[in-house]
Formats: sequence, structure tokens, C-alpha cells
Amino acid sequence: MPEKFKAPRGTFDVLPEQQPVRRRIVEVAQRRLEAAGYGRMDTPVFEDTDLFARGVGESTDIVQKQMFTFEDQGGRSLTLRPEATASVCRAYLEHGMQKLAQPAKLWTEGPFFRHERPQAGRYRQFTQVNAEAIGSDSPLVDAELILLAGDIIAELGVEGVRLRLGSLGTPETRAAYLDELRSYLRSHEGDLSDEVRNRIDANPLRAFDADHEGTRKVMAEAPTLLDRLDPADAEHFEQVKALLDCNGVSFDLDPTLVRGLDYYTRTVFEFECDRLGAQSGIGGGGRYDGLIELLGGQPTPACGWALGVDRIALALEPDEAQAGEKETNDGVFIVAEEVGRQRALALATELRRAGITADLDLAGRAIKGQMKQADRVGARHALILAGDGKATLRDMSSGEEREIDPATLVETLSAP
Ligand code: HAM
Repeated sequence: MPEKFKAPRGTFDVLPEQQPVRRRIVEVAQRRLEAAGYGRMDTPVFEDTDLFARGVGESTDIVQKQMFTFEDQGGRSLTLRPEATASVCRAYLEHGMQKLAQPAKLWTEGPFFRHERPQAGRYRQFTQVNAEAIGSDSPLVDAELILLAGDIIAELGVEGVRLRLGSLGTPETRAAYLDELRSYLRSHEGDLSDEVRNRIDANPLRAFDADHEGTRKVMAEAPTLLDRLDPADAEHFEQVKALLDCNGVSFDLDPTLVRGLDYYTRTVFEFECDRLGAQSGIGGGGRYDGLIELLGGQPTPACGWALGVDRIALALEPDEAQAGEKETNDGVFIVAEEVGRQRALALATELRRAGITADLDLAGRAIKGQMKQADRVGARHALILAGDGKATLRDMSSGEEREIDPATLVETLSAP
């Protein structure tokens, strides 16, 4: 028996009936982003491996474990993009966008690739809508981006969404804070769970997520990064929060919010949806004031986010009652005897050229089977061509039928 192929692990096919919800997510995002001055830019799905190693950060899980890396015929190491920000920054520099009015506002959409352990809402190929504003450190940029993401999510009708907000300050503040947190944890070692104690050096922030009673008590008194921000970063964060407040955005302040990418500075945020399971993050982002410089440009502040299209689609999945409802396609299905098939194709073509949805039997069904098919595809009308050249138009929902001159069909069907 020949081997049966399946979509690779962690990937899936998007079937025709699954398209509308995904298309709508991208359309709503596009309309709102373009109305706010963001221009679409597409970058290749693969880039030099070093761009991500440097941009996303050598120590991150993404770079250490999750990249799809391959060598091309010329011996170059390439990687399927695990995220968009590094590529957008590469393109910003490559096209001299620093010479344009700043910030350069760019959005993109498409597939991204991470070799993660697949589970509901976590895939090896997934789709993001991504927005970046490069070239301004104004807190207005952070607030505008968060407002836009929140409005897109709200217009889509995703329920149970919470915004978590934090600030990471500068890499130096963060390093000093982590040292302080390690010392604090060591001074309370006896009260911590084994797991947390063993990871003090590697990942002291984990301690904040622990369920262990003793650890929780210790962490309730632990210093947080927000308390240690330097005055300029603290002031920036105050302004972002004030702008969100005065625009009616509610958020949960999260002093321990960490993100899986190294480039963040200052503001970080995540949108979570409680209708999803463990993979509840439907979008996230933040400021990355050091990335452009890290990639060889002048120091250039920037901020952005990505929304996860697949997870938003999961959160919007219709309930079963709705899923049972039949969709109508507003079109016409042409039903014809064997002798009339040629005419049926010519008529369908004429209608399609006039912008009317038209379909016909392509499987040699008998008249009865063709009527069933008209119903199955959700056609609003069936046009029944008789052998004598006459035609009958049937309203599929009321069953009403009337004789019609096929020459007037486009006119009749275009009428509202
Ligand atoms: P991220 O948090 O890694 O950020 O991803 C953003 C969103 O993409 C997540 O909230 C999630 O909805 C979706 N996502 C990520 N990984 C997967 C996966 N394996 N399967 C399904 N969905 C996934 C970034 O990618 C940053 N580049 C965002 C950004 C832009 N920061 C600044 N500018």
C-alpha cells in the first residue's frame, strides 16, 4: 500500500469553510491599521539565520530550540521566520526608511514557524498580523498600538479578553534586578520549593509563577522590576498608563510579565483570552528601543505587536447551534438535462462575468441530484433549463417558480 501523507506535525490545512473567520480577522486588522497610517509591507518567509539569532536573542527558547533552519545550495544558513519584528527592522534599514517621516508605521500578515511542541492553539506554522512603529520613543506610540490592538480584538467580538501590562526598563536595569532577585531568593532558600531553588541561577523569575505555598509567601514580599525602573523609564511607563486610562482602556498591571523575546525594553503587554486553554495569549508586544542598533543601524526607538490569527479564530469558533445553520451564497445554480450542459456552462460564464455567483453540475448528476446539489451549495436560486429552450427560475427558500427568458437573467438576478 502506498504511504498515506498527512500534514506535517503541528501544521494544519485551512479548509474552505474555515476561511471566512480568518479572512475577517485580517480584514478588520487591515482596515483599522491602514486608517491609522500603517502601510503594509511583506518580507520573505526566510531570512539569514543570524538575523534571528541576533535579533530575537541567542538565549531565547525560540533561537535555542524552535527555529526551522536549513542550508541552501550555496551553503548559506537560512531560517523560516519565527516572528516578524527582526525582519521588519532589517527591511527598515535596508530601504533607508529612517529618512522617511518617523515613526515609520508598518504592518504585515502571514505565516510564521516555530518548532514547538504542538497542542491546541500552538502550532509549528501559525499566522500573525503584525504592526510596528519604528523611530519614536513617545509613549503615544505605545498607547496608540495598544489601542489599535484592543479595538481590533473588540470589533472581532472576542470575549473574555484581558490586557496585561508591564515595563522591563533597560537591559542594564533588568540585569541588576535579576541579581537582586537571585540574592533575595538565596536568602530565603529554605522556604522555596526544590524546583524554584534549583532554578535560581537559570530563571529566577519563574518563582513568581510557583504554586508552592512557601514559595508564594516568599514571592509576595519579593522586589519587582517595576519598583526598580530608573526615573526616565518609570516616567515613560506612567505616561503610557495615563494615556490608556484616559482612553478608557482597562489593564492589569503585571510586574512580572516577561516575554519570550530578548529585544524588549520599557513597555510590554499581552492580550489573553480566558475562553482558550493553556495557550491563552492572543497577542502581545512591546517596545524594543535597542533592536535597530543591534542590527547595525543608528539608535532608533520602536514599538510593536503581533496578534495570533489562529488563536483568535479558535476563540471566535461558532457554537454548535450556529454551525448547524446553512449558509446561502446568494447565487444561482444552473440545472440542465444532458443536452443542455453546453448551454449551462455558457450561461454560468455569462453570469460570472457579470459578477453574479453561478454554479453548475460538473458530475453528471440527474436533474433530481442537481436540485439537491443546488440546495447543498446554498444557492439562492436554481435555473432549470428545459430541453425546449425554456427556463424556469426557482427561489430555493420559498419554492416559488417562474418562467424566465434566459436573455434577461443577468438583469433579473442583479436586481436587489
Ligand atoms: P509573540 O508573543 O511571540 O510575539 O507572538 C505573538 C502572538 O502570536 C502570540 O500572542 C500568539 O497569539 C501567536 N503565536 C505565537 N506562537 C504561536 C504558535 N506556536 N502557535 C500559534 N500562535 C502563536 C512576537 O512574535 C513578537 N514579534 C511581537 C512583537 C511585534 N513585538 C514587537 N513587535
